[in-house]
Amino acid sequence: MAASLSLKDVSLHFGGVKVLQDVSFDVEPGVIFGLVGPNGAGKTSLFNCISGHYRPSSGSISIDGTEASGSPPARLARLGLARTFQHPALQLNASVLQNVLLGGHTRLPGGPVSWALRLPYTARSERAIRTEALELLDRAGLAWAADLPADELSHGLHKGVELWRALLSRPALLLLDEPAAGLSHGEVEQLIATVKRLRTEQDITIIIVEHHMGLISALTDRVVVLDHGRKLMSGTAAEAQSDPRVIEAYIGKDAADDAA
Ligand SMILES: Nc1ncnc2c1ncn2[C@@H]1O[C@H](COP(=O)(O)OP(=O)(O)OP(=O)(O)O)[C@@H](O)[C@H]1O
Ligand SMILES: [Mg+2]
Repeated sequence: MAASLSLKDVSLHFGGVKVLQDVSFDVEPGVIFGLVGPNGAGKTSLFNCISGHYRPSSGSISIDGTEASGSPPARLARLGLARTFQHPALQLNASVLQNVLLGGHTRLPGGPVSWALRLPYTARSERAIRTEALELLDRAGLAWAADLPADELSHGLHKGVELWRALLSRPALLLLDEPAAGLSHGEVEQLIATVKRLRTEQDITIIIVEHHMGLISALTDRVVVLDHGRKLMSGTAAEAQSDPRVIEAYIGKDAADDAA
């Protein structure tokens, strides 16, 4: 089931630095939502708050109505949250398959004791998740890479492995932090097709942080623009791209005036 997300007055301060200030917005279940804004606007920090890597200084974050702010990442993963990172965070010495399998961990029944004892029902689930991981890699045209160490893959494929790892957890809410960064034109096209396919085949809510406006326009139903830690506006990607406040935030007031 796709999850909803609701942020109310989320602020994040590091010492005197106000990274996020009173950010509020709602994401309906099943939508593809864009989070955009210039470098340093606070997009990754906001993802870190949602995924439990940062604890907001104030405000509330709820997933399907359950208060999530301040919960550890492992608990949020069990609530159906998965994410990728701006800089891929893979186990580089482990194989591609082992990296993807990490995403299936939250679906294993029981707990550390039954996992360590490898009880029959745990082993059965492990086998099923492994089969699913191999199918995911196969569909992505990556079956050939399953047993290669992750560090032998290109940057583009690292991004892909992170996405497959996140999807193996069968998330209800998926956060993608700059999934197109550093990808070739062809890889971006493939990514857009993959996310479109996800939307039709799975009941999932997706939030994408991205500077690639072509991708944001192609995929998102709605966007929020952040600037200097504050919400500047929300609307469709087209509305954001033609909003003078957004143009000013990206290129500076003088340049925006010259362009007008
Ligand atoms: N742990 C931290 N300690 C201190 N400052 C931080 C911390 N994390 C983020 N910041 C600051 O918060 C601000 C927003 O950073 P953030 O990485 O969230 O921006 P961003 O919108 O993701 O930018 P980009 O598009 O470049 O990825 C920056 O000024 C950054 O230095
Ligand atoms: Mg960032």
